[in-house]
Amino acid sequence: MIRPVLRMGDPRLLQVSRPVTDFADPALAALIRDMQDTMAHLDGAGLAAPQIGVDLRVVIFGLVTNPRYPEAPEVPQTVLINPEITFLSGEEEAGWEGCLSVPGLRGWVPRWKFLHYAGFDENGCRFEREVSGFHARVVQHECDHLDGILYPMRVRDFSRFGFIEELFGGTTTPLPAD
Ligand code: NI
Repeated sequence: MIRPVLRMGDPRLLQVSRPVTDFADPALAALIRDMQDTMAHLDGAGLAAPQIGVDLRVVIFGLVTNPRYPEAPEVPQTVLINPEITFLSGEEEAGWEGCLSVPGLRGWVPRWKFLHYAGFDENGCRFEREVSGFHARVVQHECDHLDGILYPMRVRDFSRFGFIEELFGGTTTPLPAD
């Protein structure tokens, strides 16, 4: 079921979410299905449970082939529950981000370039990955939502934060991170 996405200003987006404790709960499976339906409907690259008003540590993301972003690096379709992130170097990389909770805008956001993440899939199986670049950016963006952090809070250069039309005009709009 497609669910409404909360927008910046809604206090539920600022909460710290709770870990999932019961992976067999049918409500968890229903939540993940709703998140997948909502992300697909909005053509997003990621979505976190708090964005549909559920304060659980569940994110989904993935970018396979999106005609809007032909140059986009592939990110596997992933369900990540109770994520743990470890940064692997002090190296940062800045890039454009957008967010379904901040519609119509993009911001230039520094993120850690290399990271290891671990967590559980929808069946409660633990997995881990080492990633970099756009994949690492999406993970950081989505996991920030679980701690009540929206990407504008990470912007340092506010001359590179604004409405898509004004920033990019007729040129290709850069990738959103969710
Ligand atoms: Ni977002």
